This record gives sequence, structure tokens and C-alpha cells, in this order.
Amino acid sequence: MTDNKSVPPTTTDAGIRVQSDEHSLTIGPDGPILLNDHYLLEQMANFNRERIPERQPHAKGSGAFGTFETTQDVSRYTKAKIFQPGAKCDVVMRFSTVAGERGSPDTWRDPRGFSVKMYTEDGNFDMVGNNTPVFFIRDPMKFQHFIRSQKRRADNNLRDHDMQWDFWTLSPESAHQVAYLMGDRGIPKTWREMNGYSSHTYSLINAEGEKFWVKFHYHTDQGDGNAYWSQDEADKLAGSDGDYHRRDLFDNIAKGNNPSWTLKWQIMPFEDAKTYRINPFDLTKTWPHADYPLIEVGKLTLNRNPTDFHTQIEQAAFEPNNIVPGVGLSLDKMLLARGFAYSDAHRARLGVNYKQIPVNSPQAPVHSYSKDGAGRTVNVADPVYAPNSYGGPAAQPQAHDEPLWHADGDMVRQAYTLREDDDDWTQAGILVRDVMDDAARERLVGNVVGHLSDGVSEKVLLRAFEYWRNIDGPTGEKIEAGVREKLGGESKAPGMASAKSIGG
Ligand code: HEM
Repeated sequence: MTDNKSVPPTTTDAGIRVQSDEHSLTIGPDGPILLNDHYLLEQMANFNRERIPERQPHAKGSGAFGTFETTQDVSRYTKAKIFQPGAKCDVVMRFSTVAGERGSPDTWRDPRGFSVKMYTEDGNFDMVGNNTPVFFIRDPMKFQHFIRSQKRRADNNLRDHDMQWDFWTLSPESAHQVAYLMGDRGIPKTWREMNGYSSHTYSLINAEGEKFWVKFHYHTDQGDGNAYWSQDEADKLAGSDGDYHRRDLFDNIAKGNNPSWTLKWQIMPFEDAKTYRINPFDLTKTWPHADYPLIEVGKLTLNRNPTDFHTQIEQAAFEPNNIVPGVGLSLDKMLLARGFAYSDAHRARLGVNYKQIPVNSPQAPVHSYSKDGAGRTVNVADPVYAPNSYGGPAAQPQAHDEPLWHADGDMVRQAYTLREDDDDWTQAGILVRDVMDDAARERLVGNVVGHLSDGVSEKVLLRAFEYWRNIDGPTGEKIEAGVREKLGGESKAPGMASAKSIGG
């Protein structure tokens, strides 16, 4: 029984007190329901509209709130107020898988999203990164095709390893990221123990107008960034606790075991980009630390759980175009395309006024000329146009002199000019041979053999063996032998991946 004295009265969304939480209004106990029971109607109508579309990629995830503090003096690289010594701001973070739907298991093999929104005094600064420092493709034209190949087939709506490997092996630039994915990074133990990367190159400009190129690395303070589940452990967890990562983050923050990350930068002098042996804007490549060492910048700590998952996490809208003065985008074609893709996705998913949802609202004052539209909650004041002579906001040409670059040439369809060390296999090979130890390489071989032995057609298998031999000869041989042994000389028909098929 509810103690009516200690709880507030139930009301409609209009604040009108309602008579019953349990019974609809009828003509007599045995009679029909009345249409003027507007509380019943409101409950039914709201329920029907509770779900919003899920994110196209990265639908399954969760997040939390916290703070970022710049602990070192990096003012020689940027004038961004948030990166001045001792500067602090609030943050919201979201972690995610890429290909699975909103209810899919946390422990499917996949890269993990690592999104950070900093509420700085210069406006919101979003880094929408992953737990790997590279990506599968370097031209945004291929992104939609890539994601479709990782999600579900048209006919049976099943995920399909044949489709995944077909795309990857026809896209050799994917080799570096696929080597990460099939290794331990593909199933991190917890989100708390993962590193996060901007992956892309950004630009910085300091108070004197000097420009630099930069990559962001968030190193976890909970271990070495490589904690993983084996494929078998992850498969079991997918069945027993599909929300394992979400629960782990929430429970740890609830206990006060607040996870933190150290932000580090790799800085490249502006002029180096023209001649460096690897194209520094190609997202499939890393910059060797020996050439561009990491420097420490600050600390990000998560310390507050959401109280309403829907309003604070599901409706959170991260977008790489949110950058603040002192930081800029770069010539990375993928990053430039993302500058459009995310805000467009948010308008489709959350409505044109999504930046007025509290989790997306900046803590900096907003004086924009955006007006009206569905869901607007902030009043618009006159004048509603610029220029005007009635005291409306006026733009400041010097406010955001983001680092500029020179670009000139004919219109072409080509992702970058190849440089000395720009082939697709070298860095993937270094990862497999030099970064992974024997045990990690064995696990990689086992993971690839399992994946390729599940519904991949012979013609795609042949390309996959070649792909792995190109990455590393002996690893490719082991993969081919392992798959042949497992399949007993036969490959299953495409589109027949089993229900426990783990997606990329
Ligand atoms: C989510 C597009 C590349 C990381 C998304 C979403 C779209 C998208 C449309 C859903 C946004 C939403 O509904 O909230 C693209 C396009 C890309 C691209 C067009 C390339 C041209 C990348 C790369 C990374 C990345 C390279 C990582 C380095 C993420 C993350 C999310 C996401 C972490 C989830 C954001 C969140 O937590 O809400 N992407 N993406 N994406 N993407 Fe990308």
C-alpha cells in the first residue's frame, strides 16, 4: 500500500492531479471505458512514442558524467582555453559498439566508440573517437557501404561473415584496423580499461598563430589498455549478461570507483606534414611514437552516473564539428565528412533543436540566429536577422581563426597521393609481428580462423588468406591451415552464418 502522505500526488504532464494509478474511468465497474479519461489517453499515447530511432551505427552503449582538467602546460601548442594549465570543465562520455543494435550484447567483437563532450567556456568540444587509433577506410564514400557490410543482410536480416570479409578483402586499406579488431582490442574487458583515440589528425593554433598537427590519445589509468575477453568468454557473457560493460561502468561509478584517463598528444610540426613519409591525414595509419612522442596534457575522470538514461545518454549527440578556438579539423577527408554526417544524424534522430536537450546544451552562452523548429524550448528574441541595427549578436571575425591549410589542384576522385610508406600492409604487419607477443598472435589466429570458418564462401576465403599473408606471411599460412582443418576442406555457403556468429 502506498503511504499517500509521504509521496507527491500523481499528475498528468500538464500538472493536473489524477484520481487513480490503477483504474481507468468506466460507466459502472462492468461498463465501457470513457474517452474523456485523458490521463489514460496520455499514458497510452506517450507509451506509443517512448522509443526514438536508435543511432545508425553505435546504437548500443552507455555513458557517464565527469570532469576534465589540463594538468600540464601545453599552451605553446594551443590557445584553447580548456587546454591552458589548470583549466577544468565538465564532460559527458559515451562508450559503444558499432554494428549491433540497441539491445545487442556488449561483448560482440567490434571496435568500441569512445565519445567525449567537453562543456568548455568557449562552447562544446566533442571528440568522437574509438578504442583503436586507426579506421577501416580512408575515403568517406565507402563509410555507408562499410557499415552495411557489418550489419545485416537484406534477405534474412542476419549478420554475415561472408559480407564482412568480402568488403574487407576488397578494401585492403582495412588491414590495419582488421588486425586490431581480430586481436584483443576487439573484445575489451571493460570500458574502464580501454584507451581512446581521436584516430584522426586535428590541428592546433597557439596565441602567436603558430600551427601544429595533433592526434589525441586517452590512456586508461585502469591498466595498460589491453585487458580483453577471449572469444569463448565473450560468447558466454553475450548469453549470460548482454549488458556487461554497461553494468560494469555504472556499478563502479556508483561505488565511487571512478575511472580516469590521461590525455596525451602526439604533436607534428605543421611543415612536417608536407614531407613526412606517411601521409599524416590518412586515417588507416598511425604516427610512430619514435617520430612523434606522446606528451601529457590532462586528466579525464568519470564520477557521476546518469539518472535518466534516455534524456542523458540516449539523447546525447556527439559531433566532430564541435571544435573550439585553438583547435581545428585537418585535411583528413573522413574527418571533414564527419563534420556533416553527425549533425545531420542528430537532426534526423532527435530533431532540429537537439542542442537544446540539456545534455547537448553548452555551458557557454548561446547567441545564435537559429529560430523556431520542432521542439524548440528556448525563447527567440528580436532582432531575428543579421546584420541589424537593433543590438542583435554580431560575429567576430577573429573569434575562430582555426588553423588553415593550402589546397589547390584539379578535381579528382582519389584518397591521397601515395608516399614512401603509405602501403596498406606495412603497419598492419608491424602490429601483428612486433606489437603482439606470441600468445596475442595465437589468439588473433584463433579468432580469425573461427570467424572465417563460419559462413564465408570459397572465393572470399581465398582473398582472405591472401590478405593475411600480405599482412604477415606466417600468420597468413597459419590462418589458412586452421580454416582448412576446421572446415575439413569445405567452406559453408555464404549467408549461412550460425546464430552465434560474432560480427565485426
Ligand atoms: C556514430 C557516421 C567515422 C566513431 C556515428 C553516427 C553516424 C556516424 C551517422 C550516428 C550518430 C548518432 O546518431 O548519434 C560516420 C561517418 C564516418 C564515421 C559518415 C566516416 C566518414 C567514424 C570514425 C570514428 C567514429 C572514424 C572513430 C574514430 C563514432 C562513434 C559514434 C559514431 C564513437 C557514437 C557516438 C555516440 O556515442 O553517440 N557515426 N562515422 N565514426 N561514430 Fe561515426
